[in-house]
Amino acid sequence: MPLAVVLILLVVGSVVFHLLSPWTFTELASNWGLIDFTIDVTFWVTGTVFVLVNLFLAYCIIKFRYKKGARATYEPENKKLETWLTAITAVGVAAMLAPGLFVWASFVNVPEDAIEVEAVGQQWHWTFRYPGDDGKFGEVDAERITDENPFGMDPDDPNGQDDILVYSAEAHVPLDTPVKFLLRSKDVLHDFAVAQFRVKMDLVPGMETFLWLTPTKLGRFEILCEELCGIAHHTMRGAVVVDEPEDYASWIAKQSTWAQDSMKAAGNAQVGAAQFAVCAACHGQQGEGMQALNAPKLAGQSSWYLKRQLQNYKSGTRGAHADDVFGKQMAPMAATLVNDAAIDNVIAHIETLPDNPAPSTVAGDVGNGEKLYRVCSYCHGADGQGIRAMNAPRAAGMSDWYLARQLENFREGIRGSHLSDYYGFQMGLMASVARDEKAINDLVAYINTL
Ligand code: CUA
Repeated sequence: MPLAVVLILLVVGSVVFHLLSPWTFTELASNWGLIDFTIDVTFWVTGTVFVLVNLFLAYCIIKFRYKKGARATYEPENKKLETWLTAITAVGVAAMLAPGLFVWASFVNVPEDAIEVEAVGQQWHWTFRYPGDDGKFGEVDAERITDENPFGMDPDDPNGQDDILVYSAEAHVPLDTPVKFLLRSKDVLHDFAVAQFRVKMDLVPGMETFLWLTPTKLGRFEILCEELCGIAHHTMRGAVVVDEPEDYASWIAKQSTWAQDSMKAAGNAQVGAAQFAVCAACHGQQGEGMQALNAPKLAGQSSWYLKRQLQNYKSGTRGAHADDVFGKQMAPMAATLVNDAAIDNVIAHIETLPDNPAPSTVAGDVGNGEKLYRVCSYCHGADGQGIRAMNAPRAAGMSDWYLARQLENFREGIRGSHLSDYYGFQMGLMASVARDEKAINDLVAYINTL
Protein backbone atom coordinates (compact mmCIF):
# COMPACT_ATOMS: atom_id res chain seq x y z
CA MET A 1 0.00 0.00 0.00
CA PRO A 2 2.69 2.62 0.83
CA LEU A 3 4.32 1.80 -2.53
CA ALA A 4 1.07 2.59 -4.35
CA VAL A 5 0.86 5.94 -2.53
CA VAL A 6 4.45 6.71 -3.49
CA LEU A 7 3.71 5.93 -7.15
CA ILE A 8 0.63 8.17 -7.19
CA LEU A 9 2.55 10.99 -5.50
CA LEU A 10 5.33 10.55 -8.06
CA VAL A 11 2.89 10.98 -10.93
CA VAL A 12 1.07 13.94 -9.36
CA GLY A 13 4.37 15.55 -8.34
CA SER A 14 5.82 15.20 -11.85
CA VAL A 15 2.76 16.71 -13.52
CA VAL A 16 2.57 19.59 -11.03
CA PHE A 17 6.31 20.21 -11.37
CA HIS A 18 5.99 20.30 -15.12
CA LEU A 19 3.15 22.83 -14.97
CA LEU A 20 4.88 25.10 -12.44
CA SER A 21 8.50 24.66 -13.54
CA PRO A 22 10.24 27.86 -14.61
CA TRP A 23 12.36 25.83 -17.06
CA THR A 24 11.00 26.21 -20.54
CA PHE A 25 12.55 26.26 -24.01
CA THR A 26 14.65 29.30 -24.77
CA GLU A 27 12.83 31.41 -27.32
CA LEU A 28 13.21 30.01 -30.83
CA ALA A 29 15.28 32.27 -33.11
CA SER A 30 15.51 30.17 -36.26
CA ASN A 31 13.42 28.28 -38.78
CA TRP A 32 13.66 25.04 -36.81
CA GLY A 33 10.21 25.10 -35.22
CA LEU A 34 9.85 21.53 -36.48
CA ILE A 35 12.52 20.44 -33.99
CA ASP A 36 10.50 21.92 -31.13
CA PHE A 37 7.45 20.13 -32.50
CA THR A 38 9.37 16.84 -32.52
CA ILE A 39 10.44 17.37 -28.93
CA ASP A 40 6.86 18.24 -27.95
CA VAL A 41 5.48 15.10 -29.58
CA THR A 42 8.09 12.97 -27.81
CA PHE A 43 7.24 14.69 -24.55
CA TRP A 44 3.49 14.06 -24.88
CA VAL A 45 3.89 10.44 -25.94
CA THR A 46 6.40 9.53 -23.22
CA GLY A 47 4.61 11.72 -20.65
CA THR A 48 1.26 10.04 -21.27
CA VAL A 49 2.83 6.57 -21.09
CA PHE A 50 4.63 7.54 -17.87
CA VAL A 51 1.39 8.69 -16.21
CA LEU A 52 -0.73 5.76 -17.41
CA VAL A 53 1.79 3.00 -16.62
CA ASN A 54 2.50 4.27 -13.12
CA LEU A 55 -1.14 4.85 -12.25
CA PHE A 56 -1.99 1.38 -13.60
CA LEU A 57 0.78 -0.08 -11.45
CA ALA A 58 -0.59 1.72 -8.38
CA TYR A 59 -4.10 0.52 -9.20
CA CYS A 60 -2.90 -3.09 -9.46
CA ILE A 61 -1.03 -2.86 -6.18
CA ILE A 62 -4.19 -1.67 -4.41
CA LYS A 63 -6.70 -3.86 -6.22
CA PHE A 64 -4.73 -7.08 -6.09
CA ARG A 65 -3.06 -6.68 -2.73
CA TYR A 66 -2.72 -9.74 -0.53
CA LYS A 67 -5.97 -11.10 0.85
CA LYS A 68 -6.16 -14.24 2.86
CA GLY A 69 -7.52 -17.09 0.75
CA ALA A 70 -7.58 -15.15 -2.53
CA ARG A 71 -6.15 -17.01 -5.54
CA ALA A 72 -4.88 -15.64 -8.85
CA THR A 73 -6.26 -17.00 -12.10
CA TYR A 74 -3.71 -18.19 -14.67
CA GLU A 75 -4.16 -16.48 -18.03
CA PRO A 76 -0.96 -16.66 -20.15
CA GLU A 77 -2.49 -15.35 -23.41
CA ASN A 78 -4.96 -12.58 -24.21
CA LYS A 79 -5.05 -12.03 -27.98
CA LYS A 80 -7.35 -9.04 -27.85
CA LEU A 81 -5.36 -7.19 -25.20
CA GLU A 82 -2.04 -7.93 -26.91
CA THR A 83 -3.33 -6.69 -30.25
CA TRP A 84 -4.47 -3.45 -28.68
CA LEU A 85 -1.27 -2.89 -26.76
CA THR A 86 0.89 -3.64 -29.79
CA ALA A 87 -1.14 -1.29 -31.99
CA ILE A 88 -1.05 1.59 -29.50
CA THR A 89 2.68 1.15 -28.90
CA ALA A 90 3.33 1.10 -32.64
CA VAL A 91 1.36 4.30 -33.15
CA GLY A 92 3.21 5.98 -30.25
CA VAL A 93 6.66 4.98 -31.51
CA ALA A 94 5.80 6.01 -35.07
CA ALA A 95 4.52 9.37 -33.83
CA MET A 96 7.82 9.98 -32.07
CA LEU A 97 10.03 8.91 -34.98
CA ALA A 98 8.18 10.28 -38.03
CA PRO A 99 8.67 14.04 -37.43
CA GLY A 100 12.38 13.35 -36.87
CA LEU A 101 12.67 11.88 -40.35
CA PHE A 102 11.19 15.03 -41.88
CA VAL A 103 13.48 17.24 -39.78
CA TRP A 104 16.53 15.23 -40.77
CA ALA A 105 15.57 15.36 -44.45
CA SER A 106 15.45 19.15 -44.39
CA PHE A 107 18.51 19.35 -42.15
CA VAL A 108 20.72 17.54 -44.69
CA ASN A 109 19.27 19.47 -47.67
CA VAL A 110 20.77 22.93 -47.46
CA PRO A 111 18.90 25.64 -49.43
CA GLU A 112 20.69 26.68 -52.63
CA ASP A 113 20.82 30.34 -51.62
CA ALA A 114 22.43 29.74 -48.21
CA ILE A 115 25.45 31.89 -47.43
CA GLU A 116 28.42 29.98 -46.06
CA VAL A 117 30.34 30.69 -42.88
CA GLU A 118 33.11 28.49 -41.60
CA ALA A 119 33.40 28.04 -37.83
CA VAL A 120 36.77 26.76 -36.68
CA GLY A 121 37.01 25.25 -33.22
CA GLN A 122 40.09 24.62 -31.15
CA GLN A 123 40.83 24.25 -27.46
CA TRP A 124 39.15 26.54 -26.34
CA HIS A 125 37.82 29.10 -28.72
CA TRP A 126 36.12 29.85 -31.98
CA THR A 127 37.24 31.73 -35.08
CA PHE A 128 35.34 32.25 -38.32
CA ARG A 129 35.95 32.51 -42.04
CA TYR A 130 33.75 34.00 -44.74
CA PRO A 131 34.33 33.21 -48.43
CA GLY A 132 34.60 36.88 -49.51
CA ASP A 133 33.35 38.44 -52.76
CA ASP A 134 33.94 35.38 -54.94
CA GLY A 135 31.76 33.25 -52.67
CA LYS A 136 34.45 30.54 -52.65
CA PHE A 137 36.59 29.44 -49.74
CA GLY A 138 40.31 29.05 -50.34
CA GLU A 139 41.97 25.71 -49.60
CA VAL A 140 43.08 25.12 -46.02
CA ASP A 141 45.33 22.47 -44.57
CA ALA A 142 45.94 21.69 -40.91
CA GLU A 143 49.64 21.17 -41.74
CA ARG A 144 50.01 24.84 -42.66
CA ILE A 145 48.65 26.16 -39.36
CA THR A 146 51.15 28.43 -37.61
CA ASP A 147 50.97 31.45 -35.30
CA GLU A 148 50.94 33.71 -38.39
CA ASN A 149 48.50 31.49 -40.32
CA PRO A 150 46.04 30.20 -37.71
CA PHE A 151 43.53 29.07 -40.37
CA GLY A 152 46.11 27.06 -42.33
CA MET A 153 45.37 29.07 -45.52
CA ASP A 154 47.09 28.19 -48.78
CA PRO A 155 48.92 31.39 -49.83
CA ASP A 156 48.87 30.31 -53.51
CA ASP A 157 45.15 29.64 -53.81
CA PRO A 158 43.45 32.56 -55.61
CA ASN A 159 40.07 31.63 -54.05
CA GLY A 160 41.49 32.27 -50.61
CA GLN A 161 42.82 35.78 -51.19
CA ASP A 162 39.49 37.50 -50.50
CA ASP A 163 38.48 35.17 -47.67
CA ILE A 164 37.54 37.14 -44.58
CA LEU A 165 39.21 35.83 -41.44
CA VAL A 166 37.53 36.71 -38.17
CA TYR A 167 39.86 36.18 -35.22
CA SER A 168 37.26 37.01 -32.61
CA ALA A 169 34.72 34.51 -31.32
CA GLU A 170 31.83 36.54 -32.74
CA ALA A 171 30.25 35.72 -36.11
CA HIS A 172 27.70 37.95 -37.80
CA VAL A 173 24.90 36.64 -40.04
CA PRO A 174 22.00 38.39 -41.78
CA LEU A 175 18.39 38.06 -40.64
CA ASP A 176 16.01 35.81 -42.61
CA THR A 177 18.76 34.42 -44.82
CA PRO A 178 19.68 30.73 -44.79
CA VAL A 179 23.18 30.28 -43.36
CA LYS A 180 25.27 27.15 -43.72
CA PHE A 181 27.91 26.79 -41.03
CA LEU A 182 30.84 24.65 -42.15
CA LEU A 183 32.49 23.20 -39.08
CA ARG A 184 36.17 22.34 -38.70
CA SER A 185 38.26 21.41 -35.68
CA LYS A 186 41.99 21.91 -35.29
CA ASP A 187 42.49 19.47 -32.46
CA VAL A 188 39.80 17.41 -30.71
CA LEU A 189 36.03 16.89 -30.87
CA HIS A 190 34.01 20.04 -30.22
CA ASP A 191 30.34 20.84 -30.79
CA PHE A 192 28.77 23.95 -32.26
CA ALA A 193 25.49 24.64 -30.45
CA VAL A 194 23.29 27.72 -30.16
CA ALA A 195 20.29 26.95 -27.96
CA GLN A 196 17.99 29.47 -29.68
CA PHE A 197 18.74 27.99 -33.11
CA ARG A 198 17.99 24.43 -31.91
CA VAL A 199 20.45 22.82 -34.34
CA LYS A 200 23.87 21.62 -33.23
CA MET A 201 26.66 19.57 -34.73
CA ASP A 202 29.97 18.04 -33.71
CA LEU A 203 33.29 19.28 -35.07
CA VAL A 204 35.48 16.32 -35.92
CA PRO A 205 39.22 16.69 -36.54
CA GLY A 206 40.14 15.70 -40.08
CA MET A 207 36.72 16.25 -41.61
CA GLU A 208 34.24 19.02 -42.32
CA THR A 209 30.73 18.83 -40.89
CA PHE A 210 27.91 21.34 -41.32
CA LEU A 211 24.57 22.59 -40.14
CA TRP A 212 22.23 25.21 -41.54
CA LEU A 213 19.53 27.52 -40.27
CA THR A 214 17.64 30.67 -41.13
CA PRO A 215 17.87 33.17 -38.27
CA THR A 216 14.47 34.71 -37.58
CA LYS A 217 15.30 37.07 -34.71
CA LEU A 218 17.75 39.92 -34.36
CA GLY A 219 20.16 39.66 -31.47
CA ARG A 220 23.25 38.10 -30.04
CA PHE A 221 23.11 34.39 -29.36
CA GLU A 222 25.71 32.51 -27.37
CA ILE A 223 27.59 29.62 -28.95
CA LEU A 224 28.36 26.83 -26.51
CA CYS A 225 30.75 23.99 -27.18
CA GLU A 226 28.67 20.98 -26.16
CA GLU A 227 31.32 18.31 -26.43
CA LEU A 228 33.65 17.76 -23.48
CA CYS A 229 36.95 18.91 -25.00
CA GLY A 230 39.38 19.33 -22.13
CA ILE A 231 39.97 21.27 -18.96
CA ALA A 232 38.60 24.61 -20.20
CA HIS A 233 35.67 23.15 -22.16
CA HIS A 234 33.22 25.22 -20.13
CA THR A 235 34.95 28.43 -21.24
CA MET A 236 34.67 27.67 -24.96
CA ARG A 237 32.01 30.16 -25.90
CA GLY A 238 31.31 32.57 -28.70
CA ALA A 239 28.38 34.37 -30.24
CA VAL A 240 26.37 34.57 -33.41
CA VAL A 241 25.10 38.09 -33.95
CA VAL A 242 22.04 38.30 -36.19
CA ASP A 243 21.96 41.66 -37.99
CA GLU A 244 19.64 43.41 -40.39
CA PRO A 245 21.00 42.63 -43.88
CA GLU A 246 22.40 46.17 -44.30
CA ASP A 247 24.15 46.04 -40.89
CA TYR A 248 25.57 42.67 -41.85
CA ALA A 249 26.84 44.08 -45.15
CA SER A 250 28.57 46.98 -43.41
CA TRP A 251 30.09 44.62 -40.83
CA ILE A 252 31.45 42.41 -43.64
CA ALA A 253 32.82 45.50 -45.39
CA LYS A 254 34.78 46.43 -42.26
CA GLN A 255 36.55 43.05 -42.01
CA SER A 256 39.90 42.54 -43.65
CA THR A 257 40.68 39.81 -46.15
CA TRP A 258 43.45 37.23 -45.97
CA ALA A 259 45.35 39.15 -48.67
CA GLN A 260 45.11 42.40 -46.67
CA ASP A 261 46.10 40.60 -43.48
CA SER A 262 49.20 39.11 -45.08
CA MET A 263 50.24 42.42 -46.63
CA LYS A 264 50.19 44.33 -43.37
CA ALA A 265 53.63 45.82 -42.83
CA ALA A 266 55.34 45.30 -39.51
CA GLY A 267 55.42 48.36 -37.27
CA ASN A 268 58.18 50.94 -37.51
CA ALA A 269 60.14 50.93 -34.26
CA GLN A 270 61.70 54.36 -34.86
CA VAL A 271 58.35 56.04 -35.35
CA GLY A 272 57.03 54.06 -32.39
CA ALA A 273 59.85 55.32 -30.13
CA ALA A 274 58.50 58.87 -30.27
CA GLN A 275 54.98 57.69 -29.50
CA PHE A 276 56.31 55.53 -26.65
CA ALA A 277 57.37 58.67 -24.74
CA VAL A 278 53.76 58.94 -23.55
CA CYS A 279 53.80 55.32 -22.33
CA ALA A 280 57.23 55.70 -20.73
CA ALA A 281 55.91 58.30 -18.28
CA CYS A 282 54.21 55.47 -16.38
CA HIS A 283 55.66 52.21 -17.74
CA GLY A 284 59.29 53.41 -17.57
CA GLN A 285 61.82 54.34 -20.27
CA GLN A 286 62.68 50.69 -20.82
CA GLY A 287 59.09 49.51 -20.43
CA GLU A 288 60.23 47.90 -17.20
CA GLY A 289 57.06 48.84 -15.30
CA MET A 290 56.60 51.09 -12.26
CA GLN A 291 54.60 49.73 -9.39
CA ALA A 292 54.25 53.16 -7.77
CA LEU A 293 52.35 54.31 -10.85
CA ASN A 294 50.44 51.01 -11.21
CA ALA A 295 51.96 50.49 -14.65
CA PRO A 296 53.09 46.92 -15.42
CA LYS A 297 56.21 45.83 -17.27
CA LEU A 298 55.74 45.82 -21.05
CA ALA A 299 59.17 44.75 -22.30
CA GLY A 300 59.16 41.09 -23.24
CA GLN A 301 55.37 40.79 -23.33
CA SER A 302 54.00 39.10 -26.45
CA SER A 303 53.30 41.64 -29.19
CA TRP A 304 49.96 40.11 -30.24
CA TYR A 305 48.79 40.41 -26.64
CA LEU A 306 49.88 44.04 -26.25
CA LYS A 307 48.13 44.83 -29.51
CA ARG A 308 44.86 43.23 -28.46
CA GLN A 309 44.89 44.97 -25.10
CA LEU A 310 45.54 48.36 -26.71
CA GLN A 311 42.67 47.72 -29.11
CA ASN A 312 40.45 46.61 -26.23
CA TYR A 313 41.28 49.77 -24.26
CA LYS A 314 40.51 51.87 -27.32
CA SER A 315 37.18 50.19 -28.02
CA GLY A 316 36.06 50.26 -24.39
CA THR A 317 36.21 46.47 -24.14
CA ARG A 318 38.73 46.91 -21.34
CA GLY A 319 39.09 49.71 -18.82
CA ALA A 320 35.41 50.65 -18.91
CA HIS A 321 34.26 48.83 -15.77
CA ALA A 322 33.28 51.27 -13.01
CA ASP A 323 35.62 49.59 -10.49
CA ASP A 324 38.60 49.28 -12.82
CA VAL A 325 40.46 52.29 -11.40
CA PHE A 326 43.74 51.74 -13.23
CA GLY A 327 42.14 50.47 -16.43
CA LYS A 328 40.22 53.71 -16.61
CA GLN A 329 43.53 55.59 -16.45
CA MET A 330 44.98 53.51 -19.26
CA ALA A 331 42.00 53.81 -21.63
CA PRO A 332 42.51 57.49 -22.58
CA MET A 333 46.26 56.85 -22.97
CA ALA A 334 45.57 54.03 -25.44
CA ALA A 335 43.28 56.38 -27.31
CA THR A 336 46.31 58.56 -28.18
CA LEU A 337 47.32 55.79 -30.60
CA VAL A 338 45.11 56.87 -33.45
CA ASN A 339 45.07 53.70 -35.56
CA ASP A 340 46.37 50.14 -35.88
CA ALA A 341 49.53 51.39 -37.60
CA ALA A 342 50.34 53.59 -34.57
CA ILE A 343 49.75 50.60 -32.29
CA ASP A 344 52.05 48.45 -34.46
CA ASN A 345 54.77 51.12 -34.33
CA VAL A 346 54.72 51.39 -30.54
CA ILE A 347 54.77 47.63 -30.21
CA ALA A 348 57.68 47.40 -32.65
CA HIS A 349 59.54 49.79 -30.33
CA ILE A 350 58.60 47.78 -27.22
CA GLU A 351 60.06 44.70 -28.96
CA THR A 352 63.46 46.42 -29.00
CA LEU A 353 63.47 47.10 -25.22
CA PRO A 354 65.66 44.93 -22.94
CA ASP A 355 63.70 42.12 -21.29
CA ASN A 356 64.96 41.91 -17.69
CA PRO A 357 62.87 39.91 -15.24
CA ALA A 358 60.68 42.16 -13.09
CA PRO A 359 61.58 42.19 -9.36
CA SER A 360 59.66 39.82 -7.08
CA THR A 361 57.29 41.66 -4.77
CA VAL A 362 54.76 38.93 -3.98
CA ALA A 363 55.54 36.14 -1.53
CA GLY A 364 53.56 32.97 -0.94
CA ASP A 365 53.56 29.19 -0.65
CA VAL A 366 55.40 28.13 -3.80
CA GLY A 367 54.42 24.47 -3.38
CA ASN A 368 50.73 25.28 -3.27
CA GLY A 369 51.17 27.73 -6.13
CA GLU A 370 52.74 24.99 -8.24
CA LYS A 371 49.67 22.82 -7.78
CA LEU A 372 47.35 25.69 -8.68
CA TYR A 373 49.43 26.59 -11.71
CA ARG A 374 48.87 23.20 -13.35
CA VAL A 375 45.51 24.43 -14.65
CA CYS A 376 47.05 27.69 -15.91
CA SER A 377 49.85 25.85 -17.70
CA TYR A 378 47.47 24.41 -20.33
CA CYS A 379 47.13 27.85 -21.86
CA HIS A 380 50.02 29.94 -20.48
CA GLY A 381 52.60 27.19 -20.90
CA ALA A 382 54.53 25.15 -18.36
CA ASP A 383 57.12 27.92 -18.14
CA GLY A 384 54.58 30.75 -18.12
CA GLN A 385 55.98 31.85 -21.47
CA GLY A 386 52.55 32.43 -23.02
CA ILE A 387 51.05 30.54 -25.98
CA ARG A 388 49.65 32.55 -28.83
CA ALA A 389 47.45 29.75 -30.18
CA MET A 390 45.74 29.73 -26.78
CA ASN A 391 45.48 33.53 -26.68
CA ALA A 392 47.32 33.29 -23.37
CA PRO A 393 49.96 35.96 -22.67
CA ARG A 394 53.31 35.54 -20.98
CA ALA A 395 53.18 35.53 -17.19
CA ALA A 396 56.74 34.61 -16.11
CA GLY A 397 59.18 37.44 -15.53
CA MET A 398 56.47 40.09 -15.77
CA SER A 399 55.29 42.40 -12.96
CA ASP A 400 54.05 40.02 -10.25
CA TRP A 401 51.97 42.62 -8.37
CA TYR A 402 50.17 43.26 -11.66
CA LEU A 403 49.46 39.54 -12.15
CA ALA A 404 47.99 39.38 -8.66
CA ARG A 405 45.77 42.39 -9.28
CA GLN A 406 44.56 41.09 -12.64
CA LEU A 407 43.72 37.69 -11.13
CA GLU A 408 41.68 39.49 -8.55
CA ASN A 409 40.01 41.69 -11.18
CA PHE A 410 39.15 38.64 -13.26
CA ARG A 411 37.72 36.87 -10.26
CA GLU A 412 35.66 39.90 -9.24
CA GLY A 413 34.42 40.46 -12.79
CA ILE A 414 36.14 43.86 -12.95
CA ARG A 415 38.02 42.55 -15.95
CA GLY A 416 36.65 40.10 -18.51
CA SER A 417 32.97 40.87 -18.06
CA HIS A 418 32.65 42.91 -21.25
CA LEU A 419 30.59 41.03 -23.87
CA SER A 420 33.25 41.41 -26.56
CA ASP A 421 36.15 40.40 -24.33
CA TYR A 422 35.99 36.68 -25.07
CA TYR A 423 39.44 35.81 -23.82
CA GLY A 424 38.98 37.97 -20.75
CA PHE A 425 35.69 36.22 -20.09
CA GLN A 426 37.41 32.89 -20.49
CA MET A 427 40.11 33.94 -18.05
CA GLY A 428 37.42 35.16 -15.65
CA LEU A 429 36.01 31.63 -15.54
CA MET A 430 39.48 30.15 -15.03
CA ALA A 431 40.49 32.69 -12.37
CA SER A 432 38.27 30.83 -9.90
CA VAL A 433 41.26 28.45 -9.60
CA ALA A 434 42.69 31.01 -7.17
CA ARG A 435 39.88 31.28 -4.63
CA ASP A 436 41.27 33.90 -2.29
CA GLU A 437 44.10 36.32 -1.77
CA LYS A 438 46.36 33.65 -0.33
CA ALA A 439 45.84 31.39 -3.34
CA ILE A 440 46.59 34.30 -5.68
CA ASN A 441 49.80 35.06 -3.80
CA ASP A 442 50.82 31.38 -3.84
CA LEU A 443 50.17 31.19 -7.55
CA VAL A 444 52.10 34.37 -8.34
CA ALA A 445 54.94 33.30 -6.03
CA TYR A 446 55.26 30.12 -8.06
CA ILE A 447 55.16 32.02 -11.36
CA ASN A 448 58.07 34.07 -9.99
CA THR A 449 60.16 30.88 -9.91
CA LEU A 450 59.61 30.12 -13.61
CU1 CUA B 1 35.25 22.56 -27.26
CU2 CUA B 1 34.02 21.66 -25.42
